[in-house]
Amino acid sequence: MHDINELNTRFGLAEKLSFSTIGENMAMAVVSTEQCSARIALQGAQVVDWTPVGAKPVIWLSRDAKFLPGKSIRGGVPVCWPWFGAHESRKDVPAHGHARTVPWDVLSSKSLEDGRIKLTFCLQTSPATQALWPHDTPLELHISLGTTLELELITRNNDSEPVIISEALHTYFAVGDIRQVGVIGLDSSSYLDKVDEFTRKTQRGNVTFTGEVDRVYVNTESECIINDSVWQRRIHIKKEGSRSTVVWNPWIDKAAAMGDLGEAGYMAMLCVESGNALDNLVTIEPGEEHRLRVIYNIE
Ligand code: BG6
Repeated sequence: MHDINELNTRFGLAEKLSFSTIGENMAMAVVSTEQCSARIALQGAQVVDWTPVGAKPVIWLSRDAKFLPGKSIRGGVPVCWPWFGAHESRKDVPAHGHARTVPWDVLSSKSLEDGRIKLTFCLQTSPATQALWPHDTPLELHISLGTTLELELITRNNDSEPVIISEALHTYFAVGDIRQVGVIGLDSSSYLDKVDEFTRKTQRGNVTFTGEVDRVYVNTESECIINDSVWQRRIHIKKEGSRSTVVWNPWIDKAAAMGDLGEAGYMAMLCVESGNALDNLVTIEPGEEHRLRVIYNIE
């Protein structure tokens, strides 16, 4: 359990960063500056929302999001780690790994000279993490918030053997109307189509949405752009250390079955996830680290 008074004393930044609780006593970092407003749940070190000043929200949070201990929050930037999707052999462990549903610690907070706020979170190896993932691979997440949003996820391998991970920054973006959105940057890329039994296909043109889309694009390091004709804006997604891009919208029926996506929520969001999955698993040698970095901005 996080101690809010202690968090405010150690990491609060006058009028720019404070800590409070939401839902069932879930600790949140709340950022409010001349550049943006944002919240980050300490459970999962999950960015929950991010809105540059004067803009519509860029990171989407479901109206029906629940803030419950041990449950992933619907929206924001869940950290899927150390595996993406279902575990390859175990059925008793959570989809997308445990990092998004356990409490993280705050390591530092800083007001940068350019006006951004930088927060660093860590997830140490513990008996609880080792029950799900028997490796000593501490994680750090660096988050910089301003007119851009930048996240860097660092996995260190303190084991004596190589470890293999998959991962994704499972970002939910807010859009005016999903039916009038195109994702630019994946033309000619191969993908595994999760709504067609993982059949391997090739993307032609931009990704558009007229039904459920759940695709893992592999071997792509390209920048993607979400072109939103209704809100007349483009969201740029740049990435490093990532060879997979996942594009997901559950559409009507799956959204209704999920129970926390909000009424017509599927119309107002899509996920474009930067990570490494399926063909692009990452091997980290003993003593080495792996970095996954994304930068988001709007024009
Ligand atoms: C996407 C997956 O990344 O996450 C989808 O490709 C999945 O298959 C979606 O449905 C949401 O997952 P969850 O566990 O947050 O409901």
